[in-house]
Amino acid sequence: MVEHLESGHYPFTRLRRMRADSFSRTLMRESTLSVDDLIQPLFVREGDKTAEPVQSMPCIERLSVDRIVSKCRDLHNLGIQSVVLFPVTPSDVKSDDAREAWNPDGLVQRTISAIKDKVPEIGVMTDVALDPYTLNGQDGLVDESGYVMNDATVEALIRQSLSHAHAGADVVAPSDMMDGRICGIRKALEDEGFYNLRILSYAAKYASSFYGPFRDAVGSAANLGGSDKYSYQMDPANAEEALRETALDIQEGADMVMIKPGTPYLDVIWRIREAFGMPTFAYQVSGEYAMFKAAAQNGWIDEQALVLETLLGFKRAGCHGVLTYYAEQAARWLNP
Ligand code: PBG
Repeated sequence: MVEHLESGHYPFTRLRRMRADSFSRTLMRESTLSVDDLIQPLFVREGDKTAEPVQSMPCIERLSVDRIVSKCRDLHNLGIQSVVLFPVTPSDVKSDDAREAWNPDGLVQRTISAIKDKVPEIGVMTDVALDPYTLNGQDGLVDESGYVMNDATVEALIRQSLSHAHAGADVVAPSDMMDGRICGIRKALEDEGFYNLRILSYAAKYASSFYGPFRDAVGSAANLGGSDKYSYQMDPANAEEALRETALDIQEGADMVMIKPGTPYLDVIWRIREAFGMPTFAYQVSGEYAMFKAAAQNGWIDEQALVLETLLGFKRAGCHGVLTYYAEQAARWLNP
């Protein structure tokens, strides 16, 4: 049987050997998931001591500022080190020019200051885009034909970012997909002395059908009506274009890059991490969350096992961290 004993072949190599016991499986584990990897998105609304459920996102609530502050304290106690804020803008302050986006006394700006005042150790990230503030639900300002204007929108995004910076934000996260916005925002932040304010760019954000529950949660679905975002968000068919988008955002001054949605785009995550070696993040979006929740509520899946497997998948694909509506729950699962 000597001919079967060449090194490198069976039975010298039996991949099942290392899988035989927990200790050796643990030793050769390539990726790990911990609470350090988790970023919690939060929906903030006007009011006091108010928590309103989001129908299409079970267990997720729109919280008033005071409740956001206590949520941040709880999250930090669980080990979660950063949150991203999304405002539910009252419809009477939405406008064509989205000016509420840079109101120094706006909902997001007040929320940032309240968190930084009461729970200063948690990192506060903000979403930079105009869709919570425009009457048409688009992420930018439109011309007469309804086309989202690039450069005029970038000017508005700069004002929005500066207002978040003045309120005390640690990270601004432009999710709008305008060309040149990272450069514009970075220059303005430097000019005003915010040289340590980090930019997490949604470098590759796809025009995805997975954002539906989010648009319900923040109330932009009705504004958007039947319109789409194809003229600025990316075509789900493209990966090379994602590399070009990401390269530009890095050149323009992004500190971290993000791919969105998550699971359907693991290949894009992997390519971006390999190509640039940047701090790389995925956004497991509302539609992904809603699907897991619906299946779990029907008793069709083991929610904990499935969600933790998915989050680990992001780490294996090259992510440094994940924005996920499951962050709080996953922190409890990971550290019971
Ligand atoms: C808006 C924004 C969206 C999401 C985050 N920021 C929606 C959109 O682009 O229409 C979606 C997040 C989610 O679905 O969880 N700029």
